Order: sequence, then C-alpha cells, then structure tokens
Amino acid sequence: MNQHTLSMRLERVATHVPAGARLADIGSDHAYLPVALMRRGVIAAAVAGEVATTPFHAARRTVDDNGLAQHITVRLADGLAAIEVADEISAISLCGMGGETIRGILDCGKAHLNGGERLILQPNGGEQPLRQWLMENDYQILHEELLRENRFYYEIIVAERAEAVTYSAEQLYFGPLQMQARSPDFLAKWQRMLRQKRKTLASLEQARQAVPMQKVQEIVQQVTWIEQLLA
Ligand SMILES: C[S@@+](CC[C@H](N)C(=O)[O-])C[C@H]1O[C@@H](n2cnc3c(N)ncnc32)[C@H](O)[C@@H]1O
Repeated sequence: MNQHTLSMRLERVATHVPAGARLADIGSDHAYLPVALMRRGVIAAAVAGEVATTPFHAARRTVDDNGLAQHITVRLADGLAAIEVADEISAISLCGMGGETIRGILDCGKAHLNGGERLILQPNGGEQPLRQWLMENDYQILHEELLRENRFYYEIIVAERAEAVTYSAEQLYFGPLQMQARSPDFLAKWQRMLRQKRKTLASLEQARQAVPMQKVQEIVQQVTWIEQLLA
C-alpha cells in the first residue's frame, strides 16, 4: 500500500469521501488516504492528524514527497484536536482503529465537530459501541459496508448528523443497513462469529474459575441474535 495504490479497505473508504471535500483524516499514519485522494483530484484540502511522532513524520514525508504541503496540513495532535475551525472540514475519516478508540476520539473531540461533517469510520471490531455513540449523538447511518481482505472482515460506517434516530439492540450489533442488505460477506462473517461464540461459551462452561454471569448472559444473547439472523 502507498499513496498510489491503496489497500482494498482504504479504497472502499475513499469511495465515501464526497468530491470536493475538505477532509480530516485522523490517525492518518502515512497519510496515504488524503494524499491519494488529493492526487486524484477528489478532495479540495486535507488535514492529516497523528498522535504518535513516528507516523506523524511518515505522514509529513508522504505529503512533502508528493509536493502537497500547500494542500494537506499534517498535525501532531490527539484525535479531533488536529482540526481547527479555519480548516472548514466537511468530512472526517477515522480508519484502522478499534471501534471503542474511534468512539473515544469522537466523544472527547465533540467540541471540534461543526455538525455538518460526514463521518467515514472504519473500525477494526467494536462496531456496536461505535454505533451506540452515533445514535446517542444524533448521527444517522447512511451507508454500511463489509469487506473481506486477507482473511479479515472490515466494516465501514458512514454517518451524518440528522434528526434523532433510534436503532434496536440488534441493529446496533449487526448494523441496521447490513441487516437489510444481507450480503454474502456479511452472512459469512456472522457464520464465523457464531462458531467462535459457541466455542467461547463451551470453554466458559468448562472454566474452573467463576465467570461473571453477566458476561455469559451477554454471549448467550449474542448467539441467539446470530442464530435468528442466519435462520
Ligand atoms: C493502524 S493505524 C491506521 C492508519 C490508517 N488510518 C489506515 O487505516 O490504514 C492507526 C493510527 O492511528 C493513530 N492514532 C491512534 N489513536 C489516535 C488518536 N487519539 N489521535 C490521532 N491518531 C491516533 C496511531 O498512531 C496509528 O498511526
């Protein structure tokens, strides 16, 4: 992967960035996503935010090597603190991090959101708490996608502020739009999850140490939901 050839995962993320957007890519690492989008003429400007110095320098190098320093600002900052009002950001991407980390970044950085941005999120697990945060903060899920790359399943969630939306517990768990679309990758992911959850339950039953009842009940509930989904 580089600024010319994105991974399939980031290529799919890229399709959800609106033409002409002013993008903040938070947790940008090498800044491949904003650099590729700028080279393709898709976006008008970008901020690449990084909290760690090594990826921050890598991002700066990619931007400089591509002669894009006028259009992409690289900032060393924690989460949405990389965004300044004058950036007039219209889309924010948060990709390749756990869903709970993304949720934490959004929650701590609320003051940096203007409410008009499109959020393009690609969590690695932890999708349920992330969707819960979106619902609690009046974001509607506009697109959802699940793809498989190198044996891993990746989810992409695109959301924008809207009227208050209510999702059921199952919709928060599986994704409201994915539940409707039932793509082959979606069904395959949940077949795999069902096998894993059943194995976990079996090993918890055999565990010598006491396992918190709430934990077991949570997994039993998830197994029931998955079985109903696949029935
Ligand atoms: C696995 S990389 C993903 C890079 C790229 N977004 C992608 O999807 O390929 C995660 C990056 O997020 C950065 N990161 C984690 N927490 C962050 C935070 N609170 N603020 C900014 N960057 C963060 C890490 O330093 C790391 O470079």
